[in-house]
Amino acid sequence: MWQFISLLVLGASAASATLVIRQSQAYACKCYAGESCFPNTSAWQALNTTVQGNLQVALPPAAPCFNSVAGIQTYDANRCQQVRSSFSNQQWTTDHPIANMWTYWTNETCSLYSFNPSATCTRGYYGDYVIMAKTREHIQAGVDFARDRNLRLVIRNTGHDFMGRSTGYGSLIINTHSFKSVSFTTQYAGPGSYRGGAVTVGAGIQVRELYRLANARSPPVVVVGGECPTVGLAGGYIQGGGHGPMSSFYGMGTSSSCSGSLLGDILVDADIFTSITGADNALSFEVVTASGEFVTANEVENPDLFWALKGGGPSTFGVVVSVTVKTFPEVRTSGVSLDISSTNSAVFWQGVAALHDLSNRWVENGMFVYYELSNGRLHVQPMVGPNMTASQINAVVQPMFDRLRSQNVPFTTQTREFPTFFDLYIGMFEDEGAGVSALTGGRIFSRQDISSNAARIIQAYQTVTNNGAFIVGHIVGPGTGAPVVDNAIHPVWRNAASFSITSYAVAGNAALSEKARAQNIITNVVGRALRDASPNGGAYVNEGDLEEPNWQQAYWGSNYPRLYELKQKWDPNGVFYARTTPGTENWEVIDYGTRLCKRL
Ligand SMILES: Cc1cc2nc3c(=O)[nH]c(=O)nc-3n(C[C@H](O)[C@H](O)[C@H](O)COP(=O)(O)OP(=O)(O)OC[C@H]3O[C@@H](n4cnc5c(N)ncnc54)[C@H](O)[C@@H]3O)c2cc1C
Ligand SMILES: *[C@@H]1O[C@H](CO)[C@@H](O)[C@H](O)[C@H]1NC(C)=O
Ligand SMILES: *[C@@H]1O[C@H](CO)[C@@H](O)[C@H](O)[C@H]1NC(C)=O
Ligand SMILES: *[C@@H]1O[C@H](CO)[C@@H](O)[C@H](O)[C@H]1NC(C)=O
Ligand SMILES: *[C@@H]1O[C@H](CO)[C@@H](O)[C@H](O)[C@H]1NC(C)=O
Repeated sequence: MWQFISLLVLGASAASATLVIRQSQAYACKCYAGESCFPNTSAWQALNTTVQGNLQVALPPAAPCFNSVAGIQTYDANRCQQVRSSFSNQQWTTDHPIANMWTYWTNETCSLYSFNPSATCTRGYYGDYVIMAKTREHIQAGVDFARDRNLRLVIRNTGHDFMGRSTGYGSLIINTHSFKSVSFTTQYAGPGSYRGGAVTVGAGIQVRELYRLANARSPPVVVVGGECPTVGLAGGYIQGGGHGPMSSFYGMGTSSSCSGSLLGDILVDADIFTSITGADNALSFEVVTASGEFVTANEVENPDLFWALKGGGPSTFGVVVSVTVKTFPEVRTSGVSLDISSTNSAVFWQGVAALHDLSNRWVENGMFVYYELSNGRLHVQPMVGPNMTASQINAVVQPMFDRLRSQNVPFTTQTREFPTFFDLYIGMFEDEGAGVSALTGGRIFSRQDISSNAARIIQAYQTVTNNGAFIVGHIVGPGTGAPVVDNAIHPVWRNAASFSITSYAVAGNAALSEKARAQNIITNVVGRALRDASPNGGAYVNEGDLEEPNWQQAYWGSNYPRLYELKQKWDPNGVFYARTTPGTENWEVIDYGTRLCKRL
């Protein structure tokens, strides 16, 4: 049944792979510890010298709570206590060399909540070695080593990936979190015609620290980043597309929409943005490619790679070292919070419908809405109205309140006005936790879906909560009235009005049958209900389901064929891998989530 043959896989650089046969399917697999093709200690030491001592043996976050892990003495009572108290803190997990914020895809074989130091802790699906890269040469050395030795390579920035793509069994990890450079300009010098403000950020920069620096400029500026304070800007976020609180107003992380916004049915003049209409928010990338080269990708240099990096998938085309994005003028911003909780199901869902049925109205006014929805609880914190005073946002939301009152839905609400978006961001968005184990899925609803299927979407939401899942909702319309922007994101984003993440709690160390049951709920019960309710919708690769049916179409629509070709051009041998990204059709993680192999 088990058969290992070392063979030579011919590629750009010949690397030995392991041939494995499972149920008469042959695979060429990456090299893993214990196999003859795996680097010996002196090879790892040589790599450590090349990366100036920044190579570490990767140990799971709870390692200090156990006597030994992977043959290394690890117990340290104080550090163990610190891990236990910090693991639900997003910044703490981000700063750890390899920790994953959502533990499901780590297999949870080293439990924080095991109080017996002599119990077993193994790495599970965490990697074996990590390069804490400080320079681009360190990244290049890591890519070269992984490619030449045929190792599974994982790029890890903040560990936010809901879908476990910043971890991998037996892998060499490149950690890009140390790249914290930030450089603003008020006049981008090109290439391209854009001459407005821009900022170049290192791969490790996180959203809230960038917002803070942007707001400290004179005059203050904004960047389109995520809602979450600790997500990285240049890593998975921008390479997957990137939506955020300013996206209905200024576009996706990877594009600009620059449209006029309807303020209470009055078209607000947005002529000042015509100079950037049709351009992209991402102006340039610096990247280490699969061949280990350090290249620039923008409108002029490597324009195909530039296109692909703008939404074509995380960890697919290269390791991003830095990205330059547009900055925009700060604007007075107002926000509305809304809470509805009711044990009367009919009343409660009328309340949800009063918010969600008006999604098109919110995005056509340049707004963004963040909410959490579970059975009997809707928490909207907040509805964001860029460039609106309190009375302006109140006028826009009035129809929703009229509807809530006419249907006797009990609610609490508050409107607040802030001098800038940043002040609202700090004042109204809430911090989020970490360290939870769950499976996710998600769905983008287009404006057509909202206008023709709103009631059916609410029914689908009921299917979600009735099956024990919950929704993290974003009402966001990055293409509201926007010009067509040429980048790799699913074109459905141009028509989007709402995007929902579904989440279903299940332990990473649950029995396989329990994992299968949870996956079935996410994909075939709640996922199906949302898909059926949104024939013009799509899905988002950063916040989706690894088992999404027909993922190529769901995540990229008509952009997929070009992305597939570009993957063949830039990474023909699969140096980079993340599940459900372009060109991974023949790759599979076999043997219960461990070996990454290519079907032969
Ligand atoms: C609490 C929370 C809130 C979120 N809010 C938003 C939001 O408002 N808007 C939104 O669009 N998304 C949001 N996301 C999703 C987020 O965009 C993705 O999780 C994204 O993949 C995170 O990227 P990262 O680099 O920070 O994380 P990681 O987990 O470190 O990396 C994610 C993926 O990107 C790859 N990657 C990381 N760094 C690089 C690099 N330098 N070069 C190439 N590939 C790289 C990794 O290999 C992995 O595949 C949120 C996620 C969380 C957990
Ligand atoms: C370790 O591997 C290298 C090749 O990577 C080889 O040249 C060397 O002889 C090996 N050393 C030992 C001690 O096996
Ligand atoms: C790499 O070198 C540094 C500095 O000498 C050392 O602290 C570290 O343990 C080494 N890493 C490995 C994997 O041996
Ligand atoms: C993953 O977890 C399962 C049990 O939940 C275990 O049987 C399996 O050995 C684990 N695999 C790894 C690589 O940790
Ligand atoms: C904000 O709205 C005013 C009109 O109220 C308009 O003149 C201005 O251009 C808008 N600013 C932006 C950035 O859209």
